[in-house]
Amino acid sequence: MAKKSKLSLTDSLKNELEALSTLVGVDKFTDVELSRAIKAMSDAYIGKIGVLTPWNVPGATAAYVTYFHTRNTLRCLAALLRLKESSFFDKIDLGVIHEVGSGTGAFSFALQEFMKSHKVLYKAYFCEEKEASVYDLHQKWSETSGFTIKKSEKNKINDTLIMSYSMNELLENKVSIDFSSYKNIIIVEPSDSKHSKQLIKMRKKLIQEGFFIWGPCTHQEACPFIDLSEKFWCHDRYEFDDLPEKYLKLCKRLGWEPARLGFSYLAASRVKPEIINNEVDIQQGINVRFVGDPLKEKGKIRQYVCMDSKLRTMSVLKRNKLLYKSWSNERGEMKTFKADQLDFLDTEIRLKST
Ligand SMILES: C[S@@+](CC[C@H](N)C(=O)[O-])C[C@H]1O[C@@H](n2cnc3c(N)ncnc32)[C@H](O)[C@@H]1O
Repeated sequence: MAKKSKLSLTDSLKNELEALSTLVGVDKFTDVELSRAIKAMSDAYIGKIGVLTPWNVPGATAAYVTYFHTRNTLRCLAALLRLKESSFFDKIDLGVIHEVGSGTGAFSFALQEFMKSHKVLYKAYFCEEKEASVYDLHQKWSETSGFTIKKSEKNKINDTLIMSYSMNELLENKVSIDFSSYKNIIIVEPSDSKHSKQLIKMRKKLIQEGFFIWGPCTHQEACPFIDLSEKFWCHDRYEFDDLPEKYLKLCKRLGWEPARLGFSYLAASRVKPEIINNEVDIQQGINVRFVGDPLKEKGKIRQYVCMDSKLRTMSVLKRNKLLYKSWSNERGEMKTFKADQLDFLDTEIRLKST
């Protein structure tokens, strides 16, 4: 199998993260204090879903910025890059953005970085964050970096809803969000089965309300992954390189993986995507998203794919030497195939030519 690629952090993103660390005074804390606070916050997230982010833990904001903010920014950036593959930003004007549970601003950091190389249309960025000091920090960073955010206003009409790692906190704390009042929705959440399946349920409701799903799904039919065993669920993963030193040091101290970051996401819009698998003739070409890792089996490699409402895998035979050796489909990646490249063997799709 061909080698996997990694996304290197740009100097500008590293500088932005550094600027936020300086604003929050990360240097005033020892590594022991920071890792203790990271562990305490992580315990709250893992153990007691539904409890608010424990901003009151000593050193919480510095710990959040160094660890969780860094990771969430990279996950949001990865989700934006996936959506770019689906031409989301070519077709959709985000208009007035409303982020709920914005925290220290991971999504806005990612958006700013993304916009350095890709065009994104939007008018304004409003944030709703329960913890005032955390919003103030986000606001200060945005002032220094030239990215304007504003506090959200009641009864304001917004076009795009953003949520990053906040859905559980908001929903379980009975914050009601009227999804139907938006034109576009982007949600980024943890990669575990519970969160992924929550997004799939939300997907169904959004489709019923007239939204089109832009990612990760390649179609608008029922999702076949919702009923699968606990061992398999739809989630994405990106690998990063050239990470901030302080972050790497803390991950090492905690014994946690720094570079391979999993996430789930859902992007929906009132705007219709150009290619929807269940509406195009398969002969014209078909979008396939790889939603699992490659499974090496006797004589072939198989990988779960998202294509329509059937639970499908795509495979390549070992005897097809060139294709087998060059097989390099990363979890989360979307590719377009022509019908004459594929053999449909019920739910297994065999790749026969490039
Ligand atoms: C896990 S953090 C995620 C922060 C940020 N979006 C990120 O990706 O790093 C969830 C955030 O939601 C905020 N929050 C919780 N309940 C809220 C509410 N009712 N209204 C606004 N923000 C809320 C918390 O204070 C916290 O900052």
